[in-house]
Parts: sequence; structure tokens; C-alpha cells
Amino acid sequence: MSDTPILELKGLTKRFGGLTAVGDVSFKVSEGGISGLIGPNGAGKTTIFNLITGVYKVTAGEVLYRGNPIHNREPYQIADAGVTRTFQNIRLFKNLSAFDNVYTACHTSAQYGIVEALCRLPRFRREERALKEKTRGLLEIMGLSDRADVMANNLPYGLQRRLEITRALALDPKLLLLDEPAAGMNPDETLNLMKLIGEIRDRFKLSVLVIEHHMDLIMGVCEHIHVLNFGCTLADGSPEQVAGDPRVVDAYLGVEEE
Ligand SMILES: Nc1ncnc2c1ncn2[C@@H]1O[C@H](COP(=O)(O)OP(=O)(O)OP(=O)(O)O)[C@@H](O)[C@H]1O
Ligand SMILES: [Mg+2]
Repeated sequence: MSDTPILELKGLTKRFGGLTAVGDVSFKVSEGGISGLIGPNGAGKTTIFNLITGVYKVTAGEVLYRGNPIHNREPYQIADAGVTRTFQNIRLFKNLSAFDNVYTACHTSAQYGIVEALCRLPRFRREERALKEKTRGLLEIMGLSDRADVMANNLPYGLQRRLEITRALALDPKLLLLDEPAAGMNPDETLNLMKLIGEIRDRFKLSVLVIEHHMDLIMGVCEHIHVLNFGCTLADGSPEQVAGDPRVVDAYLGVEEE
């Protein structure tokens, strides 16, 4: 793990009219690390993802990716730079197969031009073969090979979540942002996902920031946790430090999970 954080938020603030959704939040994600972002409903977690990925413009503060400010860039530029995400509400092409969902995502890296594609010139055919190979490889790693031909809509919910992560991986991220990846999963699926997130980090040599409501997931997989409450930082540290912080217990751990 290098000392330079892959992501650093400095005094990040987002106001919607009179509401401060995120107020002066600062934390870092280590290169190669898995960090967690937790907090009760409405704490500002998804807003932070939207600020990192350029969906929202910041009101104040900075988002540094590998030391460079990205908060004034467009979402596609941030994705091109290697920051990809999944969404709290699954966003898949419901009527495409699992294979095609990943295959279409892989095409963002295709180099051939329209003429090469229309005339099916050698470079087009070569690249298409490579992209199909890449798609098959990703589905295999993510345990979805035997469902490649199943329409996304017909996959069990837990596998749809997995497919969304697979699509995000198809964009070759360096930093992967996961917004409640275990939402709606049963305990077995959650446990499997927990292991998978660690495997993904090791295999693809990327860094992960994960939002989660399942305390087990976040504690088991993250090396570092940032806790938000009403848009502000409540605690920041190792899972043990955070879990032992009385303010966190009061604000978050003490309340019943959804
Ligand atoms: N586009 C918007 N316009 C106005 N208010 C917004 C907007 N997006 C988020 N908010 C508000 O900002 C606050 C933080 O919302 P956010 O979705 O970031 O919370 P969250 O921590 O992700 O919650 P949850 O756990 O329910 O997903 C909420 O009060 C929300 O209503
Ligand atoms: Mg959210």
C-alpha cells in the first residue's frame, strides 16, 4: 500500500438550499485499501458519492484523486480517470442478458472507429474478440458464468447486485465506489459479497470505498471507517476504534438496523 491516498476529501460541503447535506467532511482512502462510509439514513453518504463522481458540484471543499482536484470535472472525465461506482438503486439494462450488460460496459474502452466497425475491418474484429474474452473473464471471476445468458431482470436480486459490480469493473477502475452493495441481500449472500469485495481488491489491485448499512459487512471487510451523522463527521478510524466510540454507538450502532 502506498502512502499517497488515492482519494482525499477536504472540507467537502454540499448545500441544497437551506439544507446542509454534507458539511465540512474530510477523510482519505488509502491506495489499495478498503474504506467504509457509514451513517444513519439521510446522513449524506450517497451525496458524497455524487460529489466524488461529479454528479453534484461541490458547494465548498475539494475532492483530490491521486493528489489532483477532480471536483470541477465532468462525470465522464472522472470515470475515464478510473473512478467508477454502483448505485443504491440497481441500474442495469433489465432486458439484456448478463453477458450483454457487461459487454456493453466493456465497449467504453474500444479503440476502433465507425468505419472500421461498419466494414468489420481487422482491428474491429480483433477488439471485439478481446472484449468478449474480457466479458467472459469478468463474469467468471464474479461467479456469473453460468448465468451469462439470463436476462438481468430474471436474475435473483443478489446476483443483480453482483452484475452491477461486474459492469463497474468492466470500466477498469482504480477506485471503486459501492453504494450499499448488500442492500436487500440475505445473510448468506451478504457474507459471500463481503469475501468477494476483498477478492476484487486483491485481484484487480484497486481501492474501494463502500457505503453500507450492514454493520457486519463493513466491520469484516474494511480497514478504515468514516462515520457520518447529519452530514458531519462523527468518527474516523479503524473498525475497532469506530465500534468502540460511544458517539457512534449512540448515533448509529445503538439503533436497530433496517
Ligand atoms: N438532489 C437533492 N436535492 C435536495 N436534497 C437532497 C438531494 N440529494 C440529497 N438530498 C438530501 O440530502 C440529505 C442526505 O441524503 P443522502 O441521500 O446523501 O443520504 P444517505 O446517507 O445516502 O441516506 P440513505 O442511507 O437513506 O441512503 C438528505 O436529507 C436528502 O434528502
Ligand atoms: Mg444513500
